[in-house]
Amino acid sequence: MKKYLAHVRGHYEVLGFEEFFATLEAENIQYSIEKIEDQILLFNAKQNPIKAAKRCAFLHSILTMISIGNVEKDKLELEKFIALPEIEDNKTFAVRVKKIGKKVIEQDLPDLERELGGFIFNNYREQNLKANLKKPDYLFLGILIGKRLYFGLEVWVLDMSEYESREPSNRPYFRPGSMKTEFARAIVNLSRIRQNEMFYDPFCGGGGFLIEATTLGANVLGSDLDKFAVYGCNQNMKFFKENYYSVFRSDSRHLSIKEVDAIATDPPYSIQSSTHGENVNNLIYEFLIEARTILRKDGYLVFSSPAKHDSELLAEKAGYSIQKVLDTRLHKSLTRRIIVLK
Ligand SMILES: C[S@@+](CC[C@H](N)C(=O)[O-])C[C@H]1O[C@@H](n2cnc3c(N)ncnc32)[C@H](O)[C@@H]1O
Repeated sequence: MKKYLAHVRGHYEVLGFEEFFATLEAENIQYSIEKIEDQILLFNAKQNPIKAAKRCAFLHSILTMISIGNVEKDKLELEKFIALPEIEDNKTFAVRVKKIGKKVIEQDLPDLERELGGFIFNNYREQNLKANLKKPDYLFLGILIGKRLYFGLEVWVLDMSEYESREPSNRPYFRPGSMKTEFARAIVNLSRIRQNEMFYDPFCGGGGFLIEATTLGANVLGSDLDKFAVYGCNQNMKFFKENYYSVFRSDSRHLSIKEVDAIATDPPYSIQSSTHGENVNNLIYEFLIEARTILRKDGYLVFSSPAKHDSELLAEKAGYSIQKVLDTRLHKSLTRRIIVLK
């Protein structure tokens, strides 16, 4: 097992950790959690976790751990040495220290960076490393939480531009009420869908979830009651498809497909998208009952809901086992709840 640190994006800790656990599971990476603190997760993994991290929208970066230390009386003590990652000869490096939460130490962060720079320089003396603060080949990162310093080599960092290119407004067909790509990706990830498996979104709208699932290499099915949504979703899928897809018109309460491996969806709540005259609770409940007939036995169903709806109670009544209920505050009057079921 190797020790790593996952750094989750600020404000999204709950969702970020759960999204990462789901992708580790989906990618069959064996891991054990050592510590969760603020935005960081210290963990051990048997296989390289980058494959799972790459799928995540709410993970900021992954470090392979070098040391854990403390800044006591303004002196840095790297008390727990873990490992020196292998690096190539004649490359460039930089050391940065990032603080999470309030600064409680008196020492300035650039002083810590210089001290850690000396540590790296001495330990990699034979490798002829040269400093390059602007565009280093290797970035060594210290994450300071209170007086505790987690120090490691950054081995993966999130590229948000990949998500921006698939935002609703950048798709051939734009539909109001579509979720931001990063949330669609996280919800699809929570369904634990794997490459070449069959993913389904029964309230597909413009296809935001299908686009994320196809990008992950899944085969996808989507349906919607609205014929314009089906037309537009087909346009979007033609543009983004990576694998097999089919989009058709159907009421999510009467499904005519066989088995699927995972379902993730964003049902309408009469806020931005129509329930076509149906009572929201009836619609969600009847859809959940119908979905049980097509979901693989150990498969996941993930759906979003405004927190005030208590939709997880409907899921329980429909016979699901609730795995997680994750709340993210979007603005003053809206908290998005993501419900993970089996
Ligand atoms: C919130 S939107 C989905 C947005 C979608 N995730 C996207 O990226 O565009 C909900 C969709 O559910 C559809 N809908 C409403 N009632 C339905 C029903 N009974 N069966 C299937 N789809 C329905 C609406 O037409 C709407 O497109």
